[in-house]
Amino acid sequence: MTDKTEQDRVLIFDTTLRDGEQSPGATMTHDEKLEIAGLLDEMGVDIIEAGFPIASDGDFEAVRDIAINSRNSVICGLSRANFKDIDRCWEAVKHAARPRIHTFIGTSPLHRAIPNLDMDEMADLIDRTVSHARNLCDNVQWSPMDATRTEHDYLCRVVEIAIKAGATTINIPDTVGYTAPRESADLIRMLIERVPGADEIVFSTHCHNDLGMATANSLAAVEAGARQIECTINGLGERAGNTALEEVVMALKVRNDIMPYQTRIDTTRIMNISRRVAQVSGFAVQYNKAIVGKNAFAHESGIHQDGMLKNAETFEIMRPADVGLTETSLVMGKHSGRAALRAKLRDLGYELADNQLADVFVRFKALADRKKEVYDDDLVALMQDQTSPE
Ligand code: KIV
Ligand code: ZN
Repeated sequence: MTDKTEQDRVLIFDTTLRDGEQSPGATMTHDEKLEIAGLLDEMGVDIIEAGFPIASDGDFEAVRDIAINSRNSVICGLSRANFKDIDRCWEAVKHAARPRIHTFIGTSPLHRAIPNLDMDEMADLIDRTVSHARNLCDNVQWSPMDATRTEHDYLCRVVEIAIKAGATTINIPDTVGYTAPRESADLIRMLIERVPGADEIVFSTHCHNDLGMATANSLAAVEAGARQIECTINGLGERAGNTALEEVVMALKVRNDIMPYQTRIDTTRIMNISRRVAQVSGFAVQYNKAIVGKNAFAHESGIHQDGMLKNAETFEIMRPADVGLTETSLVMGKHSGRAALRAKLRDLGYELADNQLADVFVRFKALADRKKEVYDDDLVALMQDQTSPE
């Protein structure tokens, strides 16, 4: 990393098509994956993790075809720590203009017990597999899975081995969503301070949302020196999901005053890709989800609606247009006030005198008490009742 712009740049690594798709029930078809990869590329995602090529022939073909059709983004595939996985991954990603191999192994005591390797045996395996990947591809990412529950001395040791073996990105996964923001930052800072060669590579953060802290943990890691965030659209991912791309990107944009880091993401494309991922994965976005939920830019209470009509900044920290929405929605319900009703009726083509508004307002409140939400058609019906002869 050289100039200031590069130091402040945070790379966005999207894993919707790999970790996101691993979410039970979220499988996407080959064509859907290609379409999502195209949208990710268009929105400015730096690295697309397109899948896990050894997992199935379908996964291999999807990664290969995404690589063949790739434009600007780096195309990455995942592989476990063995030569067969890594070779298969390379066969799929090598067609990309900018390929990356991502290889990983679980380094925490619980994960070391699964292949039954002692610390030295695992260190040796990491050395051999990362070197093998680097002989195939000059862009290699290595991840110590469950890094946040790995002993610090051992983590430093294996990260150093991976760097010496040729890894260009070291990703630090919080695989089970266990860490907290201060700890996430301390871990990255500790690695940068202690590991020889740390200044030659990019540190990455990969957080899961089991305790609802994935976004906070990712941003804390960036403040400590990580320069790649791994994330998914809508936070799709196993269990409680991964860090949501739209959240970290908008947080860095809206609070650039205190987090002065840039991404290349065209945020006006967020809403469109969020809707498309929800459709193809079958995972609906919760109404109150930050940034992309149906209610994220909707206001119902009278005080909020009145404030919004006078100055949108009163109750909105982002403009809807920044995420690709055309306008804020004023939801008409029992909490709405006269100013919002007048504005809504004006949009529907009714200009009312004060006494007419007073009358409609009474009938609107009675209707709103009976209904959760009063739609435009309900208001038109109210107006027609008002104007129709007795
Ligand atoms: O959560 C995790 O540890 C992963 C790795 C494979 C990077 O997804
Ligand atoms: Zn993960």
